[in-house]
Amino acid sequence: MSKVGVPKEILDNEYRVALTLAGVNALLAEGNTVYVEKNAGAGSGITDEEYKAAGAKILPDAAAVFQEADVIFKVKEPQATEVPMLRKGQILYTYLHLAAHPKLAMDLAKTGATCVAYETVQLPNGALPLLTPMSEIAGRLATQIGANYLERPMGGRGILLGGVPGVEPGEVIIIGGGVVGTNSAKIALGLGARVTIFDLSLDRLRYLDDVFGGQVRTVFSIGKYLEEILPSADLVIGAVLIPGKQAPRIVTRDMIKNMKKGAVVVDVSVDQGGCIETIKSTTHSAPTYEVDGVLHYGVANIPGAVPWTSTRALTNATLQYGLKLAKSGYKACLEDAALMKGVNIHGGEIVHPGVLEAVGTPAAV
Ligand SMILES: NC(=O)c1ccc[n+]([C@@H]2O[C@H](COP(=O)([O-])OP(=O)(O)OC[C@H]3O[C@@H](n4cnc5c(N)ncnc54)[C@H](O)[C@@H]3O)[C@@H](O)[C@H]2O)c1
Repeated sequence: MSKVGVPKEILDNEYRVALTLAGVNALLAEGNTVYVEKNAGAGSGITDEEYKAAGAKILPDAAAVFQEADVIFKVKEPQATEVPMLRKGQILYTYLHLAAHPKLAMDLAKTGATCVAYETVQLPNGALPLLTPMSEIAGRLATQIGANYLERPMGGRGILLGGVPGVEPGEVIIIGGGVVGTNSAKIALGLGARVTIFDLSLDRLRYLDDVFGGQVRTVFSIGKYLEEILPSADLVIGAVLIPGKQAPRIVTRDMIKNMKKGAVVVDVSVDQGGCIETIKSTTHSAPTYEVDGVLHYGVANIPGAVPWTSTRALTNATLQYGLKLAKSGYKACLEDAALMKGVNIHGGEIVHPGVLEAVGTPAAV
């Protein structure tokens, strides 16, 4: 039994919250106490009154929540004001993406808290069950966003992805055919665009060829093939992942130079550093910038744009492990191999191999 704390997210335009009312009910049913920061659910359509009616206690600010709780449920990595509120022995359960944030990894290790990253919790078959729902959302949104920025008033080349009878549709190139890539492809096909998916896994390409019934072109991901195809692209979606590691830079600056002016790149993998050389992290308030005439979109919390959907999809996935952490603390990780893969920081040390590699230091910091 634990005291579970849910602070309000403070990242720019981040309206998700880490726990729904159903999540509160489930935690209370197992004897836990739940503390929610005032207004934490407002952006996701959950009021303080509803949290209270479900049995949660409302606290006035983040400091009070961090002070009270043994286990903190969050959505995004802790921001500069949140890190000092963590303490030794406390558990932080959230998205962390530390391979792209080595300084944050070192700062978190110094707090002595155990930090469990949603995105590295991994099942024996390699699936990432807590990344999947946000990848589904980000993938679907990436196409929607790309289509929007291709409009002339938004800075794009003014092409309708679906075309119309007599006028050809747009070309969508998706790099990485995992969850994000597959969902991007679904929406792009639905709009009527021509879709090509690059992946390194032949098994994945076979799967995509099957499920899309031959409607997408699948290409083995080699730089030369990308170089050849990118000049024809209207929308490029970056969706690669090597779990826990920094994304490989696959699209070079030269490839971007050779793209059409007004084409759009949406690098969803920017949360792991991005697979496009010219990408940098942007925010929902200033989401795009231009390089060599190509519009770049690099928002690292894309699902934050649809908090109503994202919050519910997130708790659906995180709750089962959250209940275990609330029940047994770090012991839950020792008892569950999938959850153990989520442990990025423990006992003052960075323990996840991918994060260690990115930070470039031995275990102790
Ligand atoms: N920006 C956001 O808001 C947001 C939201 C959700 C997910 N993401 C990120 O999107 C990325 C993709 O997530 P996912 O759930 O689809 O991962 P996934 O594991 O399902 O898929 C990744 C795919 O990339 C492929 N891949 C690896 N190296 C490659 C290469 N060199 N060339 C082509 N393909 C390659 C893998 O074979 C795999 O099929 C991750 O970085 C994830 O963190 C970002």
